Amino acid sequence: MKRIGVLTSGGDCSGMNATIRAVVRTAMNTGVEVVGFQKGYRGLIDRHYEIMQNRSVSNVLQRGGTFLQSARCREMLEEAGQAIAADTLKGLGVEGLVVIGGDGSLRGARALANRGVRVIGIPASIDNDISHTEMSLGVDTALNNIIYAVDCLKDTASSHDRAFVVECMGRNSGYLTLAATVASGAEHAIIPETPFDLEAICASLRRRYQEGRFNSIIMVAEGAGSAQEIAARIKDRIGFETRVMVLGHYQRGGSPSAFDRLLAARFGTAAVEALLAGESGKMVGLSSGAMVLTELDLVLASGIRPIDRMMVQLADKLT
Ligand code: F6P
Repeated sequence: MKRIGVLTSGGDCSGMNATIRAVVRTAMNTGVEVVGFQKGYRGLIDRHYEIMQNRSVSNVLQRGGTFLQSARCREMLEEAGQAIAADTLKGLGVEGLVVIGGDGSLRGARALANRGVRVIGIPASIDNDISHTEMSLGVDTALNNIIYAVDCLKDTASSHDRAFVVECMGRNSGYLTLAATVASGAEHAIIPETPFDLEAICASLRRRYQEGRFNSIIMVAEGAGSAQEIAARIKDRIGFETRVMVLGHYQRGGSPSAFDRLLAARFGTAAVEALLAGESGKMVGLSSGAMVLTELDLVLASGIRPIDRMMVQLADKLT
């Protein structure tokens, strides 16, 4: 194998740059050239790429976002777009491709694998919704971002006797919201995976108030509802002044955590080694501390990663 490609696709997350670096360094150290495609699959369709040098990945490890940029590419959902993408790779003599991204990006990778392109996927999405890996890239940094925000909100909430309803991104997964609730000591978590009773939450907040605890944090996963609406519904029932914070894309940015940097190094290296070993149509993942390869067909057929019941129990016990 003389030449491979790499791209970042879908919603960005912290650690993508560190993963590109690991891919480029691992490949170049074995004499394999790397082509970086810009804006995800769009770069394959529009033929926007650069030949990577060792210097292309200097000083990027600690930066959030992705210097190759990312996009959600509708053309890749269709046969015609997939054919153009496969032709671009063939025309450039690219013999293997590393795709760094979430669920949609892995579907694109499988489509290319079905056309005979050698592809390995790396799970990268703050949502932690991809099956067959305990953690996706970017989750830990996003979690740290949320916890930092909640710590700040607790300071101001306690100064003003207020309740804050904090909306977390995570698409249809409640993982980030639930983990952030446990890790920040927020009072309640509302997530899509478990039913919630707003009356019971309000009753518990009123009890807190009567006990002289005049502030609260209620975490809401975007997949479970809107913080604005939930705040409006609880506002008059709890006796606290209520404010809303929607964390949104703030969660996705910032310098990657140590955990994400190490995961990036392992994922990037494992993906290139898999390609060199002749593997294709698979995703690298983290399982019991080890790097594992799983067929993309199985990953995608497994659907959204189920919520960790142990974490649900922890939140129940501690909130
Ligand atoms: O999948 C990552 C994610 O950040 C989700 O948490 C969120 O729902 C979505 O992407 C936002 O997408 P966009 O960046 O297109 O607004």
